[in-house]
Amino acid sequence: MSDTAKRAAARAAMEEISDGMTLGLGTGSTVDFLLDLLAERTFDIVGVATSQATAKRCQELGIRLTTLDEVATLDLAIDGADELDPHLCLTKGGGGALLREKVVASLARRFVVIATADKRVERLGISFPLPLEVVPFASAPVQRRLESWGLHVQRREHKQAPVVTDNGNLLLDTVIPGGIEDPGGFDARLRAIPGLVETGLFVGLADEALLGTVDGSVLRQSR
Ligand code: A5P
Repeated sequence: MSDTAKRAAARAAMEEISDGMTLGLGTGSTVDFLLDLLAERTFDIVGVATSQATAKRCQELGIRLTTLDEVATLDLAIDGADELDPHLCLTKGGGGALLREKVVASLARRFVVIATADKRVERLGISFPLPLEVVPFASAPVQRRLESWGLHVQRREHKQAPVVTDNGNLLLDTVIPGGIEDPGGFDARLRAIPGLVETGLFVGLADEALLGTVDGSVLRQSR
């Protein structure tokens, strides 16, 4: 969807931010608009970046960062999503940052999603393969296990080389025929596989979604 829609969602999220906050800063093209706005407004905030890419942009833009060694909780986390369902469950990880994104979202008192309105789906997994982060040693056995469940699995590659996450792991993009009926149950079942470290399913984490549209208006969805 258009940059107008992404920028509108990011601008709406700015209204949630106030001086003194510790912010979880997500990853992706919608969050990039938020970072630009944050840099313009000179808020007295400190951020925790969910990826090396976001950390690099923050450094370029002069946004102060800290780490989870230094802060125990975050006032607010703001991040994008690849899909969101009517219960505000999400799929994430299109940009490969799902593990750190989930850690940060889980530590935030409030987690706000910024996305374009076309990312709403009735059922997760319908429009986007679910990214799964696996340790390299276990990538093949995890893939075989998932395929034995009838799922279609593709190891993520870029220029014919495996994509390696910020955590040194690999990504398995997983197509679930018919989508995901029970996101919470499916997430637990996936995370019980040894070597699978995290899934792109975010269940019970998001408090609100700010959804930008092509005309620049913003739809709000709360849990
Ligand atoms: C990063 O790994 C993802 O979880 C992103 O937050 C998600 O892919 C949304 O990205 P865009 O804002 O670029 O659509």
